[in-house]
Amino acid sequence: MNKAFGNDDPALARYIYDLYTPEDAQLREVRERAGGEGLPGIQVAALDARHLEVLVRLCGVRKAVEVGTLAGYSALSIVRGMLPDGVLYTIEGDAHHAEVAAETFRKAGITERVRQLRGTALSMLPALAGEGPFDFVFIDADKENYDQYLDWAAANLRRGGMVAGDNAFLFGHLYTDESPPSQGQKAMRAFHQRLATSGEFRSTVLPTGEGLAVGIKL
Ligand SMILES: C[S@@+](CC[C@H](N)C(=O)[O-])C[C@H]1O[C@@H](n2cnc3c(N)ncnc32)[C@H](O)[C@@H]1O
Repeated sequence: MNKAFGNDDPALARYIYDLYTPEDAQLREVRERAGGEGLPGIQVAALDARHLEVLVRLCGVRKAVEVGTLAGYSALSIVRGMLPDGVLYTIEGDAHHAEVAAETFRKAGITERVRQLRGTALSMLPALAGEGPFDFVFIDADKENYDQYLDWAAANLRRGGMVAGDNAFLFGHLYTDESPPSQGQKAMRAFHQRLATSGEFRSTVLPTGEGLAVGIKL
């Protein structure tokens, strides 16, 4: 049953990381500048950013949505994987985070391809529906609303479009018995329930450190 990444062998995981070099100079600059600006280091892991880029390449993504921009680390990776005329809409509720991300997009020369939406996701998503349907939705913000973000994705993805949600293991608290369950647990369990059992998606959870849930809309 021991099928964790690198079979739990840190040296093997290191070998893969060194070979595939998921964090290049451009991504490293984003991470370091964000840290210097006082942002928390809660961007996706470098290899998970590469997962996103490759998944997006697989799906031929032209229109994408991201919930939770932070400094634009994952957004940059998503844009790298999109078709050349693709556009990413990315939502961020923290004004300072959004400013740091704007600098990321400017430095990367992708300002034209990224529409930054500033505000809480649940207030921004209804209007964004008018730009759909979308090829890809990436959920990476407050865990308490993951189920509602998935509701929106289910309604606004094209058939064959992909939804991905990071932190799908809820930092180890997904299934642990805590009574009463926290709002984060309720929302993340409902998120998994719909992805896994509703028949609307064909889904899996990639065995990354944080758990990357991925579903294709049927
Ligand atoms: C985990 S970070 C996103 C990391 C980013 N996806 C990356 O990997 O580079 C979560 C971000 O979501 C933002 N956020 C949290 N709750 C939000 C909400 N309800 N609406 C909009 N943004 C939110 C936070 O301010 C934070 O910048």
